[in-house]
Amino acid sequence: MKHYLPDPDQIPGEAQPQELPPWGETRVVGRSLSRVDGYELVSGTAVYTLDLTLPDMLHAVIVRCPHAHARVVRVETSRAEAMPGVRAVLTASTPGAEIPWYFGDDGPTSRLFDSHCRYAGEEVAAVAAETVHQAWDAARAIEVEYEVLPFVIDEAEALEADAPAVHEGGNLTEQREFARGDVEAAFAEADVVLGGTFRTPCELHAPLETFVSVARWDGDRLTVWDSTQGVFARQQELARYFRLPLTSVRVICPYVGGGFGAKLSTGKYTVIAALAARMTARPVKLAVTREDSFLSEGNRPANTIRLKAAAMRDGTLTALEGEFLGSVGAYPSGAVSPYLLLALYDCANARAATTEVYTNAGRARAFRAPAFPPCAWALEQTIDALAEEIGMDPVEFRLKNLATVLQLRDDLPYTSIGLRECIIEGAREFGWESARSRPQQDGHLRRGVGMAAGMWAYPGEPRATVFVKLFADGSVNLNMGASDIGTGTKTVMAMVVAEELGVPLEQIQIEHADTGTTQYAPASGGSQTVVVSSPAVRAAAVDVKGQLLEIAAAELERPAEGLVLRDGQVVPIDDEGAAVPLAELRGLRQRQNIVGVGRRHPHPEGKIALPFCAQFADVEVNTLTGEVRVARLLAAHDSGRVMSYLTYENQVFGGMAMGIGFGLTEDRVLDSQTGKMVNHNWHDYKIPTAKDVPLEQTCVPIDPHDTECNTTGAKGLGEPAHIPTAAAIANAVYHATGVRVHDAPITAMQMVRLLAETRGD
Ligand code: MOS
Repeated sequence: MKHYLPDPDQIPGEAQPQELPPWGETRVVGRSLSRVDGYELVSGTAVYTLDLTLPDMLHAVIVRCPHAHARVVRVETSRAEAMPGVRAVLTASTPGAEIPWYFGDDGPTSRLFDSHCRYAGEEVAAVAAETVHQAWDAARAIEVEYEVLPFVIDEAEALEADAPAVHEGGNLTEQREFARGDVEAAFAEADVVLGGTFRTPCELHAPLETFVSVARWDGDRLTVWDSTQGVFARQQELARYFRLPLTSVRVICPYVGGGFGAKLSTGKYTVIAALAARMTARPVKLAVTREDSFLSEGNRPANTIRLKAAAMRDGTLTALEGEFLGSVGAYPSGAVSPYLLLALYDCANARAATTEVYTNAGRARAFRAPAFPPCAWALEQTIDALAEEIGMDPVEFRLKNLATVLQLRDDLPYTSIGLRECIIEGAREFGWESARSRPQQDGHLRRGVGMAAGMWAYPGEPRATVFVKLFADGSVNLNMGASDIGTGTKTVMAMVVAEELGVPLEQIQIEHADTGTTQYAPASGGSQTVVVSSPAVRAAAVDVKGQLLEIAAAELERPAEGLVLRDGQVVPIDDEGAAVPLAELRGLRQRQNIVGVGRRHPHPEGKIALPFCAQFADVEVNTLTGEVRVARLLAAHDSGRVMSYLTYENQVFGGMAMGIGFGLTEDRVLDSQTGKMVNHNWHDYKIPTAKDVPLEQTCVPIDPHDTECNTTGAKGLGEPAHIPTAAAIANAVYHATGVRVHDAPITAMQMVRLLAETRGD
């Protein structure tokens, strides 16, 4: 299975940070505090990359191929070049623009402007002009002659012998198999065997801030302000594209209005902005429009999953088998994963086969738990059906079959596993038993409840370095490389500093996500940000604390062990009246700054730290219109320690809202006649709104008090929050109506048809 993120293995010889004892009770961490940048976010004064304006800045726009598959025969730019305000026109033949393009680590598969256009929306040329309107006018004046080629957009058709080849090597990108035990024998001996084919939609990333970069050159030095999940990853890729030393590329990410995985890898728009800036010796901003980002900046590919499962009458799950098919779109990416199938439940006999293909469509990118929600959709509905078939409650059936080790990795033990508690506590808080047995019919409405479980697979890249700087007046500067992609990373990290140094949150300033001035942190993706950076932040704060207490001990003539830091003061434990404000410490004034350096601990050896979850849905199906209304959602998550209750709940509710879209409304539609996307706008591509999200949402944190995963005890939450939601809704729809919906989304139209079929109309 492809990982979208760097290998989580340790680096040999890497400096090891000091061991810290695990936190017990915390005073600040875990509370529900307002975001440190809440005012800026709410008042609109926060400057996102999309808001950024530099002196003399030009605006660039991209000319895109309108055909699903075509060859560029000729590009005529003379008319555009003569238009008012135009400062640069870039095409494949522009000197400096012949850049080989990497979609992943396996060598270039394309060019910045490739004459072979493999999807409708592919970059063909670009214009930079004084205003964005002048740039658009000039872009429209560029004449491109295309040789239109036959296309393929369907994954199964792409595998046929006579299918148009998206790439010269053919359309098959990867086929893999996984197996353990004896699946055939298990199916033969099982009391119950069932299965089906499930399909999930192609889901589009819809971050509020679209894809945008601002580039400026100072001589040979490139600075890029980028709406990105990872400044260090972006720095590396830009250095490769422009053949520059890393030190000559500075990437800064002030605020990010969401990314959901699509802002992990470099987009062509960033390189085009940098190229245009170099050609014009002016700063250049390139903001991809919503319509174009839907075409070109990523998606969660549709999955077709054929599942088969077996159980004994006593409720033992004995076999699981899955065949996965998905398309990465036109360029290398990942499309499917059997991880959940092979890891969530204890099952001795399991087999999976995956097939990924190229099609003439926009390329897939990482998307909030890549490939997991589709697998949960198929697996958790199949588990639900198995439970019914053997006459067991789905909660009980799951509890009977929980995995205790990671079967995918030689039965690696977990540092902690709170899945049992998630299911038990979740069911209790949700009122599962009474909701399961309440009357289902209410006129033409039918009500039902369902649940689904999940887990996430990425333990995080273990390295990050953080600086904490204490000033003479007791205020603090936190310096970390991680982007805050809207999840509240800055708030969580400030709370970690406040916990250790006892300074109020308002006294902590944060510098972050700048390759020039902050220290390495992995990209904010894979639900790793808090997991990886918070232990480094804690270590840096503890480093400061050690130095500070040494100064205080000398001044107060007491042993350092007898002193604590609280409310901006050094407090002797046995004589609180003798507390001294930090600003009054002479030794601190003399030094002016105390700097602490923190590094992330390695992962524990021989164990793996992963988060788990269970979600519960209560739905109402209108049997006349087919509409599904989600009345209630509950999420019980074991993501380790709750670092900040407010951001925790935000993540859970956001993940579930996205799950409502995945389960009920979202679906990229490609026209079979032309291969073009017909719903690349927010009117026709339906993400859930506030009116689709239930008023009654409950977040139930399960903290297993994991002292082994890392020194803060957090395990990652952003992605798990999205994994089981749609499957739980589908199971609730089944409970309400007796209709098993195999294809997501559960649109009203599909529901009406299935209800009619069930009635025998
Ligand atoms: Mo995520 S899809 O790793 O941002």
